[in-house]
Amino acid sequence: MDLPWIRTVVRTTRPYVPGEQPQELGFIKLNTNENPYPPSPRVLEAIRNGANEDLRLYPDPMAYEVREAAARRYRLRPDQVLVGNGSDELLSLIVRACVDPEDVVAYAYPTYSLYDTLVAFQRGRAQQIPYPKSFVLPAAALKKVRPKLIFICHPNSPSGTPVDIDCIRDLVANLPETLVVVDEAYVDFARESSLPLVDAFTNIIVLRTLSKSFSLAGLRVGLAFAAPETIGELAKVKDSYNVDRLSIVGACAALDDYEWMQRNVQRICATRTRLVEELGKLGFEVPPSEANFVLARRPGERLEGLYRALKQQRILVRYFDTPELHDALRITVGTDEEIDLLLRAVEKAGS
Ligand SMILES: Cc1ncc(COP(=O)(O)O)c(C=O)c1O
Repeated sequence: MDLPWIRTVVRTTRPYVPGEQPQELGFIKLNTNENPYPPSPRVLEAIRNGANEDLRLYPDPMAYEVREAAARRYRLRPDQVLVGNGSDELLSLIVRACVDPEDVVAYAYPTYSLYDTLVAFQRGRAQQIPYPKSFVLPAAALKKVRPKLIFICHPNSPSGTPVDIDCIRDLVANLPETLVVVDEAYVDFARESSLPLVDAFTNIIVLRTLSKSFSLAGLRVGLAFAAPETIGELAKVKDSYNVDRLSIVGACAALDDYEWMQRNVQRICATRTRLVEELGKLGFEVPPSEANFVLARRPGERLEGLYRALKQQRILVRYFDTPELHDALRITVGTDEEIDLLLRAVEKAGS
C-alpha cells in the first residue's frame, strides 16, 4: 500500500528490532539482558502504595523526586539530571534535539543498533567506524570525522567490552564542538564509570537506566546526567509527562535501596565469570565482558543453527544476522541454574 503522507525516510528505514518477548511462559530468557533477580521489595511496596486515587492527577513533568534521589545517589545536583521513559527515550530526545539533516553522528560499530535508526529518522549522517578485533575504541578515527555527536556505549553491546575512561576524557576534552553521549546502560556491572566527567565538561551526557542492574526493565526509567543548560534544552523536546506516577515512586525507592541492586550485580558478575570459563571450554572466543551478558563467538562459523536449536529447547539467546556478528551469540547472564541449562544445551547441540 502506498502511504505518501508518511515521510520517505520513515517508509524506507528499517525499524529497530528489539529482542523477542515470547508471550508463552516457560522460556529461559537470555536474549534481552534483563536481570534474572527481582527488584527490591521496597520498589514493589512503593508502587503498591502509589496505586491510589492520585492517579487521576498528572505526574510532576520533571519527576523532581527522582532527580533529587539520583543527585543524592550519584553526588550531583538535581539540575544535572533528566528523567526519561527508559534510556531509549533519552537517546531519542538527544538525537531530536541535536541532529539536523546531514549532521555527522559517529560511533564505533557493532554497537546498540537503535543509534542507526534514530539518526536515520533525523536524516543525519551516521559514520560507523568498525571496532578492531580487540574492541578497543577507535578514538582517532571517531575524532577525524569531526562529528556533531558521538555515541559511546560503555560497556559496549553486544561485545560487553568496556571503554577506557581516559580515552573518553580525551575525546571530550579535544572535541569541544562535539557532544559525547556515553550510554552506560550496563555500567553497574563494570569497574569504572564516566560520570565524574559530567562535573568537568559541558559537552558530555552520561545515560543510565534502571532496566538492567536495578531489575526494572518493565518500569521504564532512564537517567541522563549533563550540564544544567543541556538538560534544559533536552527537556524542551520531551513529552510534558514522560514519566508516570508509579515509575516516579518506584524509581525513588530503587535508588534508595542501592544495596539490593549491588547484591544482585555481585551474583551476576560471579555467574559471568563461570559462564565465560565454561564457554571457553566449549570452543567459544569470548571478549572480556564488563556487562551482564557475553558475546560467545566461533570465528567463521555461522551460529544461526545453534540459536535455533537452543530456541527449540526454550532457551532464548540473541542472534544478529549481520556479517560482523553471524558467528556469535549474545548471551545474558541469568541465574546459575539457567546458565547450567544453557551450557548443557549448547554442549548437546554441538555433539
Ligand atoms: C546499550 C543500551 N542502551 C540503552 C538501552 C535501553 O534501555 P532502557 O530504554 O530500557 O532504559 C539498552 C537496552 O537494551 C541498551 O542495550
